Amino acid sequence: MPAPPTHLARGLLGSLPHFRRDPLGLLLRSLRDYGDVVRFRMFTWSLILVAHPQHVRRVLQEHAANYNKQTRGFQVLRTFLREGLLTSEGEHWLRQRRILQPGFHHDRIAGFGTTMTRATEDLVNRWLRAGTDTVDITADMMRLTLRIVGETLLSADVSQESDRVGRALHVAVHAANDAIGQVIAPPAWWPSQRNRALRDALQTLDAVILDIISARRRADEPTDDLLSMLMQARDENTGLGMSDAQLRDEAMTIFLAGHETTAIALGWTWHLLATHPDVRRRVEEEVDAVLGQRQPMVTDLQQLSYIEQVVKESMRIYPPAWAISRCAIKDDVIGGFRVPAGSTILISPYVTHRHPEFWSDPERFDPDRFDPTRSVERPPFAHFPFGGGPRQCIGNSFAMMELVLVVATITQRCRLDLPPGGNVVGTQPSITLRPAESIRMHVSAR
Ligand code: HEM
Repeated sequence: MPAPPTHLARGLLGSLPHFRRDPLGLLLRSLRDYGDVVRFRMFTWSLILVAHPQHVRRVLQEHAANYNKQTRGFQVLRTFLREGLLTSEGEHWLRQRRILQPGFHHDRIAGFGTTMTRATEDLVNRWLRAGTDTVDITADMMRLTLRIVGETLLSADVSQESDRVGRALHVAVHAANDAIGQVIAPPAWWPSQRNRALRDALQTLDAVILDIISARRRADEPTDDLLSMLMQARDENTGLGMSDAQLRDEAMTIFLAGHETTAIALGWTWHLLATHPDVRRRVEEEVDAVLGQRQPMVTDLQQLSYIEQVVKESMRIYPPAWAISRCAIKDDVIGGFRVPAGSTILISPYVTHRHPEFWSDPERFDPDRFDPTRSVERPPFAHFPFGGGPRQCIGNSFAMMELVLVVATITQRCRLDLPPGGNVVGTQPSITLRPAESIRMHVSAR
């Protein structure tokens, strides 16, 4: 069985400098030049890009048991998410997933719709009341999604703490990004500037979350949210509940996984709508026809189908989780190529979402691609912003509901435009696909 073709790169570091300079460009060019499975040598280790939907499906779903999360990226994330759902594995992950799953069930999250629209209306009111003409949409979407995740899952209004928490999360994510990009990262105990910043950020986050947990332990009345569910859960065998540390890991994971990705998806969506007035007009027409002046509700979601298409297309072009990594436990064969045990596999929704076999003119923003009649032709994993298989995003439905409700609520009341010259915004592929700079937008009442 042949080894996958290897990206040609000279020098000791191999493809690493290319990867650091422009990972998205490198991956897209490699798909074009080498095909669906490509190997990259990065100093002493290597990485295999798997781009075809069928191969992605093999790794994430069909053969998922052969692929774990013992990769550099997850090891870095583990330094602050520890044994939370995103980073844990094996028995512990399965037990936690079973405990958390009912909390994300459709019926259960439907009750969160009002919180989502109310938080969004508060933001619109603030914009319109302040009469400010430009807002930093990236920062405002981060604040909004942080408040939503805090209120719905932890019943805690973290919006007063939002700046502190937001800053600490930013530092933690930044430090994690740096560590992933380094050839040899200093150990976590090394008193480097980055490690010290990370330690301070973690202390802040720990303090906020542990405060919420301890207030909850003292409260007489049970609260109806995910944290309470986690606190009430008991291990089937031992009858023991979760420790504060375990609760902290899950809460921190939900905080991070639940707000950063959604905020980024919203930021890109506003940018795409402002640069595509024809699409925006259709969104406005749908909102006016379905809602009029009435507040959007969960029961309206089915009718807000064009907005759903817009959001899916926005996450096709800018998938917030642009890279998913795995490690092969045993030898495997993917697309006719040998994948030895221990290989790091890189799956990139950003790349697969532009695969020429499944997407024509892939850079064009065209929400009609997600018209149900056209979507049926596409194989699973041609579009997978939430991953797939057993480790698929647990917050998938939560996020879709939030994205559609936020877009509808804001569109109903105002219009967001880019200042002159603001049409082009680059990407900054770190753990998530952030815009390279803050997106500033002009707000006007509709
Ligand atoms: C647009 C928004 C979102 C995107 C694009 C997204 C994307 C993803 C992806 C790709 C994964 C799989 C990672 C892997 O396979 O290694 C994942 C996992 C996860 N997501 Fe999301 N996510 C979003 C929103 C949310 C929300 C709102 C929550 C919680 C409220 C959440 C919580 C999680 C958790 C806990 C996992 C780990 C699941 C497991 O391994 O069992 N995510 N997400």
